[in-house]
Amino acid sequence: MFDTIRWSEEGVVMIDQRKLPREEVYVTCRNYREVADAIRSMVIRGAPAIGVAAAMGVALGMLEADSADPDAAFEEVVRTLAGTRPTAVNLFWALERMRRAYEQVRGQPLAAIRRRLVEEACRIREEDIAVNQAIGRHGAPLVPDGKIVLTHCNAGALATAGYGTALGVIRAAIAAGKRIEVYACETRPFLQGARLTAWELLHDRIPTTLITDNMAGHFLKSGRIGCVVVGADRIAANGDVANKIGTYSLAVLAHENRVPFYVAAPVSTLDLSLASGEQIPIEQRPAEEVTHVFGVRVAPEGVRVENPAFDVTPNRYVTAIITERGVARPPYAESLRGLAQDDNLARSR
Ligand code: MRU
Repeated sequence: MFDTIRWSEEGVVMIDQRKLPREEVYVTCRNYREVADAIRSMVIRGAPAIGVAAAMGVALGMLEADSADPDAAFEEVVRTLAGTRPTAVNLFWALERMRRAYEQVRGQPLAAIRRRLVEEACRIREEDIAVNQAIGRHGAPLVPDGKIVLTHCNAGALATAGYGTALGVIRAAIAAGKRIEVYACETRPFLQGARLTAWELLHDRIPTTLITDNMAGHFLKSGRIGCVVVGADRIAANGDVANKIGTYSLAVLAHENRVPFYVAAPVSTLDLSLASGEQIPIEQRPAEEVTHVFGVRVAPEGVRVENPAFDVTPNRYVTAIITERGVARPPYAESLRGLAQDDNLARSR
């Protein structure tokens, strides 16, 4: 098995997702700036994995800090990591958790601060795996036996500390004895589906078929797809879901063809401070991701390009949201608030 991200004596070790599936290489980030660069440049990606990376980045940052002004060092590290990618709220959730841990030991000797922050970052990683397994347990009963599950982007072990959210539901359904296979959308322009989901599922010997994004309607109309399961980068209080660009189109096509559309995500992906998905910041990525494929130009010089990394699926297309605390159904304003309970997820970010 591979490790998406782990803490080591040398630094934060991540599998380089830009190189998969051709090469399985690990990079070691030895300071917080390298962690920030790794998030920005997609060495690591996927909302929960970005959260774990940010937490470990904070711990690494405080290992470098000098004792003269730990508060200033902490703020600088958090500011740098917060500026990497804007959409996945798990990043900001993890930074807030690290801040709470820091506040518990603030004023103590630097060695105690460092110990506490490393411990918290490693705990966030361990909890994420358990959370994904719980998402799987709640989601598995929803997956129809003997059918195809369609997924988009990569919401698997590579997008989390392990097991995955959407792919966690698939893994749990298979573990429960369901005979299912997966259709993975390739996910232009960054090809997370082709490069990462297909690789990860084949690694686990899960029957997988790769399709291009524009084939999804054809297969959703065929009657062979039992459900769509995707992950999420941020879910607003009303159940609108930001996820990888192309998710919205899939949701509309699923609705048109009466195929259930499920979103699998941890409670840390909820952002109850936002009333609707309209307020979710959408990352714009470089034009080269669209004009080039693996360094080869496929579009004419000078063409205008748009490259939003995410879109927002309105809640009316979402059949259910599968979390580690249970399955939320419409109306989401009530069901999500119920699941978030005592968590302070309504804070502004
Ligand atoms: O740009 P990426 O690869 O970070 O986008 C990832 C996604 O959109 C995933 O579906 C989402 O983060 C959920 S991962 C469990």
